[in-house]
Amino acid sequence: MNHYTRGRKLALVAATAGAVAALAFLPAWAQPPQPQTPAVHGPWMDKSLSPDKRADLVLAEMTLDEKIVLVHGAGGFGAAGSRSNGGAGMIAGIPRLGLPDLQLADSAVGVRSAADRGRYATLLPSTIGEAATWDPKLAFEYGKLIGRELRDQQYNVTLGGGVDITREPRNGRNFEYQGEDPVLAGKMVAQLIRGLQSQNLIGDVKHYAFNDQETGRSIGNVKLGKRAMRETDLLAFEIAVTEGQPGMVMCSYNKVNGDWACENSYLLNSVLKKAWGFQGFVLSDWGGTHSTAKAALAGLDNEEPGYRYFGDPLKTAVTNGDVPLARLDDMVHRIVRTEFAAGIVDDPPRGRVVDPFAGAELAQRIAEQASVLLKNDRGQLPLNAAMVKSIAVIGAHADSGVLSGGGSAQVDAPGADRARWNVPVWFPSSPLAAIRAKAPKAKVEFNDGADPAAAAALAKAAEIAIVFVNQPTSEGRDVPTLTLPDKQDDLVSAVAAANPHTIVVLETGGAVSMPWIGQVSAALEVWYPGICGAQAAANILFGDVNPSAKLPVTFPKTDADLPHPQIPGIDLIPAGGGRGGRGRLPDFDIDYTEGLKVGYKWFDAEDKQPLFAFGHGLSYTSFAYSGLKAAIDSVSFTVRNTGKRAGVEIVEVYAGLPAAANEPPKRLVAWDKVALAPGASKTVTLPLDPKFLSIFDEQKDDWSLLPGEYKILVGGSSRSTPLTAVVSH
Ligand code: BGC
Repeated sequence: MNHYTRGRKLALVAATAGAVAALAFLPAWAQPPQPQTPAVHGPWMDKSLSPDKRADLVLAEMTLDEKIVLVHGAGGFGAAGSRSNGGAGMIAGIPRLGLPDLQLADSAVGVRSAADRGRYATLLPSTIGEAATWDPKLAFEYGKLIGRELRDQQYNVTLGGGVDITREPRNGRNFEYQGEDPVLAGKMVAQLIRGLQSQNLIGDVKHYAFNDQETGRSIGNVKLGKRAMRETDLLAFEIAVTEGQPGMVMCSYNKVNGDWACENSYLLNSVLKKAWGFQGFVLSDWGGTHSTAKAALAGLDNEEPGYRYFGDPLKTAVTNGDVPLARLDDMVHRIVRTEFAAGIVDDPPRGRVVDPFAGAELAQRIAEQASVLLKNDRGQLPLNAAMVKSIAVIGAHADSGVLSGGGSAQVDAPGADRARWNVPVWFPSSPLAAIRAKAPKAKVEFNDGADPAAAAALAKAAEIAIVFVNQPTSEGRDVPTLTLPDKQDDLVSAVAAANPHTIVVLETGGAVSMPWIGQVSAALEVWYPGICGAQAAANILFGDVNPSAKLPVTFPKTDADLPHPQIPGIDLIPAGGGRGGRGRLPDFDIDYTEGLKVGYKWFDAEDKQPLFAFGHGLSYTSFAYSGLKAAIDSVSFTVRNTGKRAGVEIVEVYAGLPAAANEPPKRLVAWDKVALAPGASKTVTLPLDPKFLSIFDEQKDDWSLLPGEYKILVGGSSRSTPLTAVVSH
C-alpha cells in the first residue's frame, strides 16, 4: 500500500448497471437546468445558410459588451449564481440572439461531473487503450458514446480529445492521450472527435502543445526546433485538426520556445490557423491565459475559466486600439460559427436518461480489443475453464474493482461524491468475480498482496496464479519512475518463484518496467480498462476473446534507457508538484534534446533493446507475412493465419527515409486490422500518404518528400518486420 491507497476506503459504489440506471430517476431539483431554447427568428437562424454567413449576420447585431461575454468563461462546476450545468466551464450565451450558453464538460474517457448531480456516466477504457486497438472505427464509436452521454446530461461542449504525444513515458496523463506515434495518435483522435461531433456537439483537441509532462507544467519552457515540433507532437495535432475538424483547440499551460502556449503566435496563428486552416476557436487551459493584448493578437480566442484578461481588460484594449476590433470580431466569429457548424443552436441537447447498458457493452468491447497480450510462454493462455482446478488471484484490489485514471479525466463513480483530485478510484468491475464466473468448478481464492510471503503461499497451493498489478497515474503529477509502486515487483517475483504458472495482469496508465518478466509465463496489459474491465480481461484469460491489440507506446526496460533518465525539472519541483501556479518556483527549461527521436524512434536510433516494442502484441493464433509489393504511394502484401484459431492481426507498415533526410531509422506510415479464419489469408493493399514519408523543411516552411531510396518494412510490430523492400523516388 502506498500514499494512494493506505487506509482509504475504496470509492466503490453502485455495483450493478440496474442500480446505476435507477440513479437517473431523480427529482426535478436534482436534474441539470433546462437548456435555453432560442425563440429568436433573426436571419442567422436560417439553417440553409453556411455557418460563416450565419456568424456574420449575428455578429453584426452584437454590442461590444456582448462580444466580450463570448470570449471568456463565466465560472464552472456550478459556481454560485452562474447558469453552469456543473461542468468544468461555462461560457454565457446571448439569449436575445438565440445563442445558447456553452456548457463545457471534461470527458476524456467518459463524462466527468455527472455523479454529483446524481447522473450516471460510462467509464470507458482509457484512451491509451483505445489507441491500442489501432481501430479508427472503434475510436469513432468511443467519441460517439461520450457525445451521446454529454447530450443526455445537457452539455454541448466536450473537453476531451487529448493527444499530447507520449514523449515522456512517466507523464501522469499518458492514459488520457493516444500513445507515442503522431500518425497513430492523430488518426485515432480524429475519428474520436468525428464520432463525438456526430452527436451535434462541439468537440476539441488538447493540450496544444507539448504539455508532454505534468512536472512543472505551469512553469516549464519547452525547447524544441521547428522541424522536430512539426514532425512529432504537432503532426498528431495536424492530423487531428485537419481530419477530425474539431470546433475547439485547447492551448496548454507550458511555454514553448519562450512564449506561453496560449500566447504563442507561432503555434496559434502561424501553424494552427494559417498552415492548417483551423476555422474553430482556441480556448485556454484553465488558468493558462497570461495576458490580454499579447494573447489576443497571438491567436487566443477565449479565456477559461474566468475573465481576468479577456473580460474588462480586453474591452479596454479594444477601445484604446491595443487590440483591433477586427480581431475581437474574428474571435467572436470563430466561436459563433463553431456553434452553428456543430448544430448546438439548431439542435440543442434536451437531456435524457443515460442508457448504461449500451455504454457497458461498448466499454467491454473496446477493453477486449485494447488489452495487449505481452507474453504467453508455451501457450499458458488461454486458460481452460473446464480443466483448471484452482486459481490464486492476487493483488491490486482485484476482489473489488479496476483502477481508473485521476484528475480532470476522472469519471465520477456513480453514487459517489465527486472523485477527489488525484485519488485513485477503483470502479466496480471485480476481476475475482469475473474469474470465478468463468471457472465455476475451480477453487478461486484471493490474497490482497500486501504480504508477498502470504501471497506466495496461496500461489504455491494453486494450479495457476494470476497477479494483478497496478500503477495509479493522474493529471497534475508524473510518476517518478517506471517502476511499479508499492513494491509490487517484489510481490510478482515472490509469487512467480512459488508457482511456474504465474500470469500477470497490468492495470497501468502507460509503460512500466518488469524486472520479473523472465520469471512469469504470461503478461496481459489491460491499461485502465473501464466499467466492464474485469469481464473483458476474463474473456481474454479464458479464450472467449482472442487478443489483437498492439502497444501504442514502447515499454522500456528501465528509466536509464530513456532520453531523460529523470523527468526534466523534477528536482526543482517539490514532490508531486506541477499542477499549481508558479509560486516561488523559478521558470525552467524543458529541453527535449531527443528532438525527432520520440518513443520507438529513440530506441531504434540509439540501438537500445526495449522490453516490449511499439506495435508489439500477441494473439492466440499466429500470422505469416509474404509477397510484399511496394511503391512510393502504396504497398500490398499477404497475411495468413497460420494457427488454429480465428484471429485479428494489426499489420504495420514502416518506412525508412533516404539517408540524406537524417531521420530516425523508421516511422509508422500505415496499418490495417485484418480478421482471418484459421488457414485463411488476405492480400492487403494500403495507400501511403506522402506527408508521412516527408520531412518538415524549415527553409520552405513546408513538408518535403525527398528524392532517394525509401525502405519499406512490413510486419506485426516495429521490431518484427519480416517483409522489406526498397523503393526509389
Ligand atoms: C486540465 C484540462 C481540463 C481543465 C478543466 C485543466 O487543469 O489541464 O485538461 O479540461 O482543467 O477541468
